[in-house]
Amino acid sequence: MNALLEVLQPGEPDWELARTIDPDRLPAHIAIIMDGNGRWAGRRRLPRVAGHQAGVGPVRNTVETCGRLGVKVLTLYAFSVENWKRPRAEVETLWRLLRYYLRQELPELQKNDVRLQAIGRLDALPAPVRKELEAAVEATSSNRGLLVNLAINYGGRAEIIDAVNAILEGARLDGSISSLKLDEELIASNLYTASCPDPDLLIRTSGEMRISNFLLWQIAYAELYVTGTLWPDFTRRDLLEAIVEYQKRDRRYGGLSAPPQRHESAELPPKRNEALIEALRLS
Ligand code: FPP
Repeated sequence: MNALLEVLQPGEPDWELARTIDPDRLPAHIAIIMDGNGRWAGRRRLPRVAGHQAGVGPVRNTVETCGRLGVKVLTLYAFSVENWKRPRAEVETLWRLLRYYLRQELPELQKNDVRLQAIGRLDALPAPVRKELEAAVEATSSNRGLLVNLAINYGGRAEIIDAVNAILEGARLDGSISSLKLDEELIASNLYTASCPDPDLLIRTSGEMRISNFLLWQIAYAELYVTGTLWPDFTRRDLLEAIVEYQKRDRRYGGLSAPPQRHESAELPPKRNEALIEALRLS
């Protein structure tokens, strides 16, 4: 039984879908590229910033649903290192919305035991934004429920460069630079997400088939799920559908599927085995 069912009534929309989710095989870490705000606004002949504004509600709902389901980590791509190229007014609206979200949602995050963390090159943020972000991170730091990583001024390549530079700096300081050897564990433990398991499921909204410099190291074995839904339209149902689809995937990490249990193969009807043998013979 997942905790979401406690707040849904039988017959309510999403009840049947939520029931099909296996709580023992939940993705521990879901990462989302929230895309399509501009197009959502464009289709309504509204300014782009209206799309960003409409994107706050789905952030709130997604955090709540992940928390109820028992997902451990949710990482949201809120602002990339490339997003500075956008018009200044749009960038400023994004900062305003982030501050609005933090102020508005802090009591709810506390109530739901959500821990907030910010990942990215935060030094470059306008000082008031950084201050408010750091205050929210600090205020939720002892919560033990869902961890929400807000990726802000984030870039996957920048993150790897920062990790390698941190390793070099540490080795210079402790005098071990001449014998320094990089390995996966050392790099992973110096990423912004060092304390998190890698994402199991990467969701991208708005139908684009791109990674856009998001969590490049961490998504090595993530299952990708792209939906045509634009971010402002992304509902609890869309999230549940992504998780249901994830639970149908066969994750092999470069190996092979688990072989069928012995008793299962023994029970295969002989006719089917013969058909298989025949098929192999013909190939
Ligand atoms: C991409 O859509 C979205 C962003 C660059 C910003 C995401 C921001 C929000 C969802 C606002 C609220 C966030 C928080 C964390 C409170 P786009 O503008 O690239 O859309 P387009 O591809 O249709 O133009």
